[in-house]
Amino acid sequence: MVPTAPAIEFRYEVEPADRQLVRQIVESTGFFNPGEVAIAVELVEERLAKGDASGYHFVFASWHGEPCAYSCYGPIAGTLHSYDLYWIAVHPSFQSKGLGAKLLAHTEECIRRQRGRQVYAETSSRDQYAPTRRFYQRHGYQRVAHLKDFYAPGDDKLIYVKGL
Ligand SMILES: CC(C)(COP(=O)(O)OP(=O)(O)OC[C@H]1O[C@@H](n2cnc3c(N)ncnc32)[C@H](O)[C@@H]1OP(=O)(O)O)[C@@H](O)C(=O)NCCC(=O)NCCS
Repeated sequence: MVPTAPAIEFRYEVEPADRQLVRQIVESTGFFNPGEVAIAVELVEERLAKGDASGYHFVFASWHGEPCAYSCYGPIAGTLHSYDLYWIAVHPSFQSKGLGAKLLAHTEECIRRQRGRQVYAETSSRDQYAPTRRFYQRHGYQRVAHLKDFYAPGDDKLIYVKGL
């Protein structure tokens, strides 16, 4: 009998090949401009260079053995127990299967274990991000700030928080 891979597996160690994996996942979503893609990869570089001291933690997720999603989070300097969810992305071929929900829940569990008590997530007010906003709201995130024209005229920044 051929062994089947578990549906979802998580990994936390960051490897040099993750620069390319993160680039592929983030680019594939079509949600991020080249500058944002470069920042996503820089966070991997920082993690590789400095480890925990970078302040960036990663959760990589595979779907039936296929690496296709990740999150990046970290403690917010100067706060007692607030964390930023810097990034969460699922390759489009693997979206709407519940993977994002599992990855988010698992990331929150990691934050809780690190004594984090609040998670902040930011997104844009653009129509393209409606599913992202719905995703956060569905998972218990509340909008606590709305910064008008933050990213560009007509493109506001929305800040969500969830207590853990
Ligand atoms: C936001 C994102 C991470 C969600 O990941 P995902 O894997 O698609 O998330 P889920 O599958 O858990 O949920 C997505 C939708 O699929 C639905 N769904 C979940 N399991 C399902 C299933 N088995 N069958 C059908 N639909 C399902 C959910 O109800 C949800 O619907 P909703 O949009 O009406 O809320 C992903 O869409 C993404 O990478 N987006 C682009 C990047 C982005 O915006 N990142 C966040 C800002 S950094």
